[in-house]
Amino acid sequence: MKPLVVFYSRTGVTKQVGEALAQTLDCDSEELLDKKKRSGPLGFARSGRDARGKKLTALEETKHDPALYDLVILGTPIWGGTLSSAMRTYIANNKAKFKGVAFFCTQGGTKNQPLFNEMEALCEQHPVNILALQQKEVKAGAYQEKIRHFVDGLQAPEV
Ligand SMILES: Cc1cc2nc3c(=O)[nH]c(=O)nc-3n(C[C@H](O)[C@H](O)[C@H](O)COP(=O)(O)O)c2cc1C
Repeated sequence: MKPLVVFYSRTGVTKQVGEALAQTLDCDSEELLDKKKRSGPLGFARSGRDARGKKLTALEETKHDPALYDLVILGTPIWGGTLSSAMRTYIANNKAKFKGVAFFCTQGGTKNQPLFNEMEALCEQHPVNILALQQKEVKAGAYQEKIRHFVDGLQAPEV
């Protein structure tokens, strides 16, 4: 299996998980960079509004071609119950190239099934595995066990 971890992170939480996953899997990773300003109170408000409106955004050029990987692991913070604009845009631009997908998210709360359902619909593929982490457990560094479990579940069953 040749995976690629692709993530967007506004404040570093999802990035921490994405980097830990790439390290555990010893694979390439891609951080999505949004050209739209997302920092500060105005950026926060704009992000929530854009997410709820299911708006796309402009991304900086990416480095890796997802068509060259067996599995693309997509990670986003939850915004307004849904995907960050950067991840929505990346999926829209690249879904035809995904051979297999897995999803992860970070969040302040606990509700995440609607997000994963939406990611599945956008990718037009059922994910091999999903992982949801709360911001507080990531910040406390208490997520290695869940990462290990998620990674174990990415292996295709032996035929
Ligand atoms: C605009 C905005 C909307 C958010 N909406 C939700 C939400 O609906 N549910 C939730 O659990 N967390 C929500 N959060 C919290 C983030 O998902 C959480 O802080 C996440 O871990 C941030 O990841 P990041 O540091 O990678 O950007 C929201 C955060 C922002 C900025």
